[in-house]
Amino acid sequence: MLEFDRTRIKKTIMPDVLDQHQFRYRDNEADAPSAAELYCEDVKLSTLADEFGTPLYVYSKRQILENFRAFSSTLALAKDPKYPGIGHYVSYAAKANTNIEVMKLLAAEGAGADVVSAGELLVALAAGFPAEKITFDGTGKTDKEIELALRAHIHAFNVESLDELKVINEIAEQMGVRAKVSIRVNPDVDAKSHPYISTGLRENKFGIDMESASEAFIYARSHRSLEVVGIHVHIGSQITTLDPFIKAAKSTVAFVNKLRLETGITLEHLNFGGGQGIHYRNVVRHPLLAPDEMGDEKDVFPSLGEFVHAVLPILNKSGLSIIMEPGRAIVANSCTLLGRVLYTKSNSLKKFVIVDTGMTELIRPCLYDAYHQVAPTSLAKERANEVVDIVGPICETSDFLAQKRTLPELRRGDVVAILCAGAYGYTLASNYNLRPRAAEILVDGSEYRVIRERENLEDVAGLTESDRALVRTLVTETRENVG
Ligand code: LLP
Repeated sequence: MLEFDRTRIKKTIMPDVLDQHQFRYRDNEADAPSAAELYCEDVKLSTLADEFGTPLYVYSKRQILENFRAFSSTLALAKDPKYPGIGHYVSYAAKANTNIEVMKLLAAEGAGADVVSAGELLVALAAGFPAEKITFDGTGKTDKEIELALRAHIHAFNVESLDELKVINEIAEQMGVRAKVSIRVNPDVDAKSHPYISTGLRENKFGIDMESASEAFIYARSHRSLEVVGIHVHIGSQITTLDPFIKAAKSTVAFVNKLRLETGITLEHLNFGGGQGIHYRNVVRHPLLAPDEMGDEKDVFPSLGEFVHAVLPILNKSGLSIIMEPGRAIVANSCTLLGRVLYTKSNSLKKFVIVDTGMTELIRPCLYDAYHQVAPTSLAKERANEVVDIVGPICETSDFLAQKRTLPELRRGDVVAILCAGAYGYTLASNYNLRPRAAEILVDGSEYRVIRERENLEDVAGLTESDRALVRTLVTETRENVG
């Protein structure tokens, strides 16, 4: 088994992931009254809010590349030449962020892609991911999606039930092709994450339980239109301890070895899924910004190097090529969502800061009670700290971005940055309350460009040409009447 040089991994990989965050405050004493301004790489975030309006997603190209390179180089370090196979690689879980420009960056770095719908498959192909590095996941692939994926000659389907396997076989047979399949097993492991993003327990809908999974492998082997190439396991998301990964790795490898012994089935790859947790607290720091008290989890949080050190030696024992499918770890901290303060109000219990962004742009706080750091883009010495709830404009009590946060006083017009919004931010955005989806900007050093336009209000409202014409006359008339 490959011996890891722990110090090498720690020195070379950990700093990339944990310390080189591309969103930082820069002190600006001369520019009174600001004491500090938040930057994405070399671009001031408040400038982008002024130029493009809010809500606005801002991405750091450098951060995306660093995250990906850290992940893939860690895997490369851990590759064991003693084992045969096509080599380990990172397959980006597109569901985290499907902006085509973000995907192009990763495709150009040599990443594979893990997709879960026809839409994600098309974006992955258009972004330049080679079909032989695309896997298709999900519990409910439709016949049309299966056909499309076969026509695109993807690397493999990650199959989640015997029923699905039979349908893939039928479709492949009708098309006169062989479908490559990988069976997703459910190891019955508790990922100890939020219950809505834990997938590895028997009570979850994902995968086939280990007891009946061999049946699926045997079925696949005995059908000419199927070629069984791998095994897949993914136990959940935002996992912050190593233990669940270790348990899942051990039981999957034990399964692979037993399968080989008992049935003679040999596989090419083991896809270990994604799920690596990232730091959401104290992502940006400044003496004028009160640190989050819970934020020192940073010290005990397992690093990527430690994750790889813990699981790769186990996975390598399968003798298979290893695929990892991270989503969040690649894109989450590469983006901040900007919103502008509309109003503030207080009652005897609390103070609310109402901003122009909310659950329509970032549903994670509402859906998973997720923590995202909120930080003003400008820090000024004279603003005293206070405890506030940051809420959005949407008509739901669950429309909050942050609760009970100690922040410098925020006033109408101030811009706030909601950090680590790059994974499951835009992809989970909605048009609720008929709000257009926000624009996305990619920063590269001191340059920046729009990588997706803000949605057009009339399109979002579903107006026909005549509706538009009518509304325009109505809006103009009203204005004239007011005037
Ligand atoms: N592979 C499979 C099969 C998956 O289902 C997922 C995520 C991933 C890989 C990538 O997991 P990651 O590395 O991003 O944790 N919306 C939730 C997360 C849902 C994750 C769904 N599956 C959130 O905002 O926390």
